[in-house]
Amino acid sequence: MTTAYEQLCTTLPTTPRLWLITGVAGFIGCNLLEALLKLNQRVIGLDNFATGHRHNLDQIQHAVTPAQWARFRMVIGDICRLDDCRAACVGVDYVLHQAALGSVPRSLEDPIATNAANITGFLNMLVAARDARVKRFVYAASSSTYGDHPELPKVEDVIGKPLSPYAVTKLVNEQYADVFARAYGFNTIGLRYFNIFGAHQDPNGAYAAVVPKWTAEMIFNQPLWINGDGETSRDFCYIANTVQANLLAATTINSDAVNQVYNVAVGERTTLNELFEAIRLALAPRFPHLAHFKPNYQNFRAGDVRHSLADISKAKRLLGYAPTHRISDGLIEAMDWYVANLGKMPATSPLAMETDASAKLHNGDAENL
Ligand SMILES: NC(=O)c1ccc[n+]([C@@H]2O[C@H](COP(=O)([O-])OP(=O)(O)OC[C@H]3O[C@@H](n4cnc5c(N)ncnc54)[C@H](O)[C@@H]3O)[C@@H](O)[C@H]2O)c1
Repeated sequence: MTTAYEQLCTTLPTTPRLWLITGVAGFIGCNLLEALLKLNQRVIGLDNFATGHRHNLDQIQHAVTPAQWARFRMVIGDICRLDDCRAACVGVDYVLHQAALGSVPRSLEDPIATNAANITGFLNMLVAARDARVKRFVYAASSSTYGDHPELPKVEDVIGKPLSPYAVTKLVNEQYADVFARAYGFNTIGLRYFNIFGAHQDPNGAYAAVVPKWTAEMIFNQPLWINGDGETSRDFCYIANTVQANLLAATTINSDAVNQVYNVAVGERTTLNELFEAIRLALAPRFPHLAHFKPNYQNFRAGDVRHSLADISKAKRLLGYAPTHRISDGLIEAMDWYVANLGKMPATSPLAMETDASAKLHNGDAENL
């Protein structure tokens, strides 16, 4: 039986639409761009390169045909400026709003910057998209919204109190989206991403996510640190599943599915110790020094949730979401990309120079890890 996403991939190329991806130069944004261009869609990208990279866009250009690339237009702009949002929204059918400052630790260090991009920027995009009569506004929500609620698995309508400024911003996004549905009849869908990983995810910097960071540290034989005892667990979700959820959410004709939030994950829990071993085993055949590579352990990090696991039945039921990749499948594809690309990262990349202790102490990801 064909899945809803397989059907969509068959019909979309015959019905091209204009999509706006905010945060298009970032990890998730550029993967969405590649998928949409390969489906012969027209795409506008909006980004201010705060954390995204031009080399991500260059790589997508090489992954698609010249004719597909010609359907992409880049707007360099800031979602904190309403005029930039309005300029990007003209004529757009669907918005996939990814632009934000990710990372819990970043938000603890600079809550004002996180608030500006994630709340003011979000509201600007909502207003611009509403005024441009966009058909649907799909936005990156977050598993951090579950906050201190201990129950597993996480179901969408049971949340706790936010544990960081970042989590506050993502909760406020959902509240604004809900109010725009009630007050203006504007169609939105929020996707609460769990820990997403895959190609184009930045391994550099203090706020790098755990999968690319550890991958780089293993490849370059650098010390690797695990916060706590390694039994902290997460529902790691491969980027292909995330792309699928976005495209299904934007195009669903199920009216019950609209103005909702959904978990986007796999529904499986992996501990940090298991993740370490899975990455090590995936890389070991190509990097003999990993045969005896061991992690170091340090204190638990304040604010980290101990366990996270999603119930994905709502997305399955209402959107027809059917994840194609479990963590092991995703890691194989992601490792191939990292092995092929890490050595080619731009000379400005601090990775090659990361030998000091400061580079080793943060293995926080975009969420709670
Ligand atoms: N990666 C994950 O595991 C994860 C989990 C939950 C939620 N999210 C959310 O998904 C979205 C995408 O995350 P990502 O991992 O791709 O992060 P990323 O940092 O790679 O991408 C974010 C993009 O937004 C852009 N941006 C930031 N502020 C901007 C501004 N003011 N104006 C215009 N562009 C701006 C950045 O330059 C970057 O290209 C974010 O909203 C993030 O909060 C990600």
